Amino acid sequence: MLSSCQAKKICKNTYFSQKNFTFFTTQKRNFSSPNLTSCGKKFSEINDYKIVSRFFKIINNQISPFTEESILNFLRDKQTLRSFLYEIDGGIKGNYLYEKFIHWLNFYSNSSSQALYAYFSETGSLNMLSGDFIRFCFSKNIFLDQNETLQSFSNHNLLSHEACKKELDSISKKNEINILGFGLDEGTYEKEIRQYLLSNNITERVNLYGFDPYAKKNPEIDYLTQGQIENGEAPFFDLITVRWVLHHVALQERWGDFINCINRCGPGGVVLVVEHGFLKKPSCFSKKEKKFYNLLNATFDIVANIGLRPYYFTSTYPNIGENFFIYYLEPEDFSAINQKLSIHTEQIIYDVGPSFPNQTIYCMHT
Ligand SMILES: C[S@@+](CC[C@H](N)C(=O)[O-])C[C@H]1O[C@@H](n2cnc3c(N)ncnc32)[C@H](O)[C@@H]1O
Repeated sequence: MLSSCQAKKICKNTYFSQKNFTFFTTQKRNFSSPNLTSCGKKFSEINDYKIVSRFFKIINNQISPFTEESILNFLRDKQTLRSFLYEIDGGIKGNYLYEKFIHWLNFYSNSSSQALYAYFSETGSLNMLSGDFIRFCFSKNIFLDQNETLQSFSNHNLLSHEACKKELDSISKKNEINILGFGLDEGTYEKEIRQYLLSNNITERVNLYGFDPYAKKNPEIDYLTQGQIENGEAPFFDLITVRWVLHHVALQERWGDFINCINRCGPGGVVLVVEHGFLKKPSCFSKKEKKFYNLLNATFDIVANIGLRPYYFTSTYPNIGENFFIYYLEPEDFSAINQKLSIHTEQIIYDVGPSFPNQTIYCMHT
């Protein structure tokens, strides 16, 4: 169960706000700028801290005491793991990707507990554990059908895309719009956004640019280099999309390239970030709870990415997964990005669900 301290903190309305920065929950939605009202009421019911607190409430009912041993026993029991996920979100029953995730996490927990113990006992990082999990999955010939994996994501896509559309509607009409997909891979989502902008008459022409050192390059997209962005040789962007990327940016690269890209946004530009695994108020939870949350998010993330883009892992063969990095964002990351920008932005952060893995929208208006 949640401690009384945790419960009290969860009931509080706001987290942190600083100049040009709004971070809110539904209990108190503070739409300080006309632009930002576009986030819409539709999300107010799910857009709050309840999503994450419910996850912890349910897991604390299932694992007690919250020790390495009881966590491992929980993960080793496939039916318990499945019931937990179903309790969090009944809508995932029979979902292809969740079933694969349950299978691979349970298989791994039963086969190789050393890395899991190291992770929970502080000696191992999330990234080390992720590497071990990736190698395990490939050593056991993991395979997921790409289309079925994509289909399994439809609820995630719907929730984040609905939120993104509201933000896109706030872009002033222009003859031509430059989109930069940061970490776009082949740019499937950016092409969807291009279609949305064109069919809603927000613009007549869209130019697609990309920045992604590990992408499977798509000839329709003009991929920019780090040098082009750093030296001001890149065009000015009206929209930057960053879906499910920032937690994969290696720590030594945080947040230089991303900041250089945002600094190439003209006035009236929008930066749209979709993240997951983000805990707004990490101090509400114990270290082990946070580690457990990160473990579930990361292993789900890995199984999903193996399904959607196996080359992300196999392109570095024999060092499978070498390019795959994972470290979830913390509240300080958002303020660090904000402080390092050389342009003025209004920023807003809100959750859009589903229950697991939860998605967070981080939107900047320049
Ligand atoms: C989970 S995929 C998301 C792909 C795409 N944005 C989407 O929504 O389908 C993460 C992407 O982040 C990219 N990535 C990893 N590290 C990066 C970095 N340092 N800078 C930019 N992109 C990066 C990867 O190559 C990969 O394409």
